[in-house]
Amino acid sequence: MAMTRILMVCLGNICRSPLAHGILESKLSDELFYVDSAGTSNYHIGEQPDRRSIAVARQHGIDISHQAGRQFNINDFDTFDIIYAMDQSNYNNIIKLARNQKDIVKVQKILDVDTNFANKDVPDPYYGDMGDFEHVYTLLDAVCQKIVKELTS
Ligand code: 4NP
Repeated sequence: MAMTRILMVCLGNICRSPLAHGILESKLSDELFYVDSAGTSNYHIGEQPDRRSIAVARQHGIDISHQAGRQFNINDFDTFDIIYAMDQSNYNNIIKLARNQKDIVKVQKILDVDTNFANKDVPDPYYGDMGDFEHVYTLLDAVCQKIVKELTS
């Protein structure tokens, strides 16, 4: 059976998408699913996730400390089946790189997966505090649960 490949994308690839990556990976079989993350910017290439993302994930039993920042590139449209953007700005930046309709239809804003979310952007916690990171974790955990349901039902 073919692997399903899922990419989580934010701006820096140090706060939100590493959490989304770690959370979704923890809920799926690694024999059937490959999960990765990337940033639209080149700001944090090779860096470990933000220490606050590492801490909030660890509080929930997930280790993301081994992840390293990388920049989204057009090859990702070929590698991945589904590309989840954390917010509208990330979505727009990914779509700017799309080569055709096939690329475009792979990209979704992650919170659009669940109609219960009134706010469709995962807020950027970079300039926030631990409470903001905890809020992002809660949002991403809920939406990843929904994604898993869809992928495995
Ligand atoms: P992320 O958060 O997109 O969730 O990783 C940010 C991280 C770094 C920056 C902005 C957002 N930055 O400007 O360096």
